[in-house]
Amino acid sequence: MAVIFVPKESVPGETRVSAVPETVKGMTKLGLEVQVERGAGEAAGFSDAEFEAAGARLVDGGARGTADVVLGIQCPSVDAAKAQKAGSLLICTLTPGQRLDVMAALRDARVTAMGLEFMPRITRAQKMDILSSQATCSGYQAVLLAAVYLPKMFPLMMTAAGTLTPAKVLVLGVGVAGLQAISTARKLGAIVEANDIRPACKEQVESLGGKFVDTGAPPDAETSGGYAKEASAEFLKKQREILSAHIAQADVLITTALVPGKKAPVLVTAEMRKGMKPGSVIVDMAASQGGNVEGTVPGQRAVVDGVTIIGDTNLPAQCAADASRTYARNVLSFFGEFVKDGKLNVVMEHEILGAVAIVHDGVIRHEPTAQALAAPRS
Ligand code: NAI
Repeated sequence: MAVIFVPKESVPGETRVSAVPETVKGMTKLGLEVQVERGAGEAAGFSDAEFEAAGARLVDGGARGTADVVLGIQCPSVDAAKAQKAGSLLICTLTPGQRLDVMAALRDARVTAMGLEFMPRITRAQKMDILSSQATCSGYQAVLLAAVYLPKMFPLMMTAAGTLTPAKVLVLGVGVAGLQAISTARKLGAIVEANDIRPACKEQVESLGGKFVDTGAPPDAETSGGYAKEASAEFLKKQREILSAHIAQADVLITTALVPGKKAPVLVTAEMRKGMKPGSVIVDMAASQGGNVEGTVPGQRAVVDGVTIIGDTNLPAQCAADASRTYARNVLSFFGEFVKDGKLNVVMEHEILGAVAIVHDGVIRHEPTAQALAAPRS
């Protein structure tokens, strides 16, 4: 019977947990033994007693060293990576390009490390897709944050003291997070506009009651996997020109535009931002990838030129219970791919396992990471 270890996350501000009592029951049904570090779910609202009642054994951090599988939300430290036993599995969000030291440690410790952010975006894997589940939480949370900081209410209100006009929200980037932001802002009664460079987004925006701001689509805007390709500098210039007037009208601007593997496109220059009304709010959800707005500082909230800019980098951690619940369900579905009667069957020929295994059997399988590790250090 394979042993699963669920750690208490150690990265500052990380409130989520990679298993919840409901998924402990599911893992137990698969024949796995689940060990949960004491206090692991506390910040997300899941008590040790609930984990125990669901069938988990409460342990201390040292149990990482004897587990067959270590779960996690964030990439572990080098020391934690080294503590895993040879041949064991690590399943978390790896961000290998940013954690080369950890990747080297995992390789040398002969750990198989699976980065859930590499889950293929195929229909079969939708229930294992942590990018979608966490982006849903982020899009929702971004709107709530904006609503708190905006000195005006979102809905149209007819009051004895007269009519209050609804807030205008502009969403740039209509992937999973953007769609959830539109939906949440509409539920709060705002008037919503949105823009994306993928033509398919127009219909999706309209189906949620938003108005699509059409800035055209660069030729060949989308990869076969549905992601945006990097737009040319010329296209971005034209896009910014069209967006300027909409940005000046908006009370709230939520930006989520990303291009996989690239720095986030700058959609809002400092000059465009200065054209916004005093008191308006920007939530730059691309902050950790360079930001869509000039002036965003990752991890900070600041008033710049009269506009509040929110550059929070871990929005899912702000709705930790549901973010954990959905992440943990993604993990449980993933186990369904390779666990049978409590035994692990990890083979790289498997379409999904092969795609997410970044380190296996002493080899870095992610080409950019392997190249970066091979390059001489300056
Ligand atoms: P993402 O987080 O990579 O990017 C967010 C959005 O930014 C995208 O919609 C992208 O088109 C947009 N963007 C990029 N450059 C832009 C620019 N210059 N101006 C305006 N917008 C720009 O995207 P996410 O949320 O990961 O979704 C990407 C695609 O994957 C979508 O088509 C989505 O429907 C699809 N998807 C498929 C799944 C599956 O089949 N399992 C699961 C989830 C998403």
